[in-house]
Amino acid sequence: MHFEFTEEQLMIRQAARDFAQTELKPGVIERDEHQKFPAEQIKKLGELGFLGLMTSPEYGGAGMDAISYVLAMEELSKIDASASVVVSVNNSLVCYGLEKYGSEEQKQKYLVPLASGEVIGAFCLSEPEAGSDATSQHTTAIDMGDHYLLNGTKNWITNGGTASTYLVIAQTDAAKGHKGINALIVEKGMPGFTVGPKENKLGIRGSDTHSLMFTDVKVPKANRIGEDGFGFKFAMNTLEGGRIGIAAQALGIASGAYELALAYAKERKTFGKPIAEHQAIQFKLADMATEIEAARLLCLKAAWLKDNHQPYGRASATAKLFASKVAMDTTVEAVQIHGGYGFVKEYHVERLMRDAKITQIYEGTSEIQKIVISRDILK
Ligand code: CAA
Ligand code: FAD
Repeated sequence: MHFEFTEEQLMIRQAARDFAQTELKPGVIERDEHQKFPAEQIKKLGELGFLGLMTSPEYGGAGMDAISYVLAMEELSKIDASASVVVSVNNSLVCYGLEKYGSEEQKQKYLVPLASGEVIGAFCLSEPEAGSDATSQHTTAIDMGDHYLLNGTKNWITNGGTASTYLVIAQTDAAKGHKGINALIVEKGMPGFTVGPKENKLGIRGSDTHSLMFTDVKVPKANRIGEDGFGFKFAMNTLEGGRIGIAAQALGIASGAYELALAYAKERKTFGKPIAEHQAIQFKLADMATEIEAARLLCLKAAWLKDNHQPYGRASATAKLFASKVAMDTTVEAVQIHGGYGFVKEYHVERLMRDAKITQIYEGTSEIQKIVISRDILK
């Protein structure tokens, strides 16, 4: 075992750090305030290869490993979690799912533009009545011979309004339960596909979250991913990697807040000395640094297992469960260290605190991660 990164991994981390400082930081407060999607920044991230970081170069990606992905996600999320969620969804849910399970034709047609950042994708599992309980799909995809007829509603879909390619999970044969579920590639503009209004959210306000409505949408059979009935396993397997991305996002939110709190603590004086010289503040910083380091190690371990083709479902659930709690705890303490200044937008930590909360909800709530972990312990 060794704890050193390769030259290439360090290069990716530096590139993400530089991008976050120069391209994401300016305007991040205004984008949050006005719920503005970081369109220009996402376009540039695509040009730099961050939207298909782990996809093989054969399909337009950068061919990097999951460790590099964690490093990049941490750096981007320190500054702008609304942008980093786009990177996470596109990489680990959409591109990964297509590269691992798509047909050659699907890869050429859909993966290449997604991985090269020409277009972005969305992953559509959740419904108004099927979030945690993901097998209870109400969206139907009826087999009509050469196509499926898709009907239903998906909600909370990240990149819902801005994506071009949507991976939609739907029930084809209810009698077969989860074995009757399919994953279909749906294109924006297919007749009968409409996008609802953008959600007005507590955090990651720049990200683009919408409901999607499908009314008699004809989806060609060639757009089904994998065998008939593979859709639920496709979603579960893909989410194992997605959870590494969200764990790294949580890690980045925590470390961004910690860095701000540390700098502020050295600068702000009370009772004749910097607050960093009060033991109560020192202990908060020590707790933050310790928890962040533990979260980072869990994220890297899950990524390492994935890179080394070992089972990583439990590790990614563990990393997400822990890192998202660290993100909440650290951001709350970062606001506390800033005192009243932490409560206003200019100091960034209040936004990080609001952004942290979603990491305990999406890609499986913390309670769901505990179900995944405990089932693995007890199996
Ligand atoms: N890989 C492959 N197959 C898996 C699997 C995995 N990780 N986990 C479960 N399965 C299989 C099971 O083996 C089972 O198949 P068999 O019957 O053939 O053995 C089948 O899937 C059903 O599994 P369960 O019986 O365990 O299903 P369950 O109803 O108890 O639910 C669950 C399990 C873990 C709770 C699951 O429903 C779940 O993960 N829920 C959370 C959903 C979620 O994470 N949504 C995220 C949406 S995407 C998103 O949020 C993106 C974003 O914000 C940016
Ligand atoms: P519910 O499932 O109704 O859960 C409510 C509460 O009950 C939670 O605390 C939950 O943990 C708890 N609970 C439920 N079941 C159990 C149980 N068995 N044991 C213990 N506790 C339980 N989905 C997508 O498919 N694609 C996306 O791109 C996407 N992006 C999102 C972006 C945002 C901003 C948000 C808010 C959500 C997004 N989601 C997306 C949906 C997200 O994955 C779901 O919100 C999440 O899985 C929880 O589902 P739910 O909201 O229906 O809550």
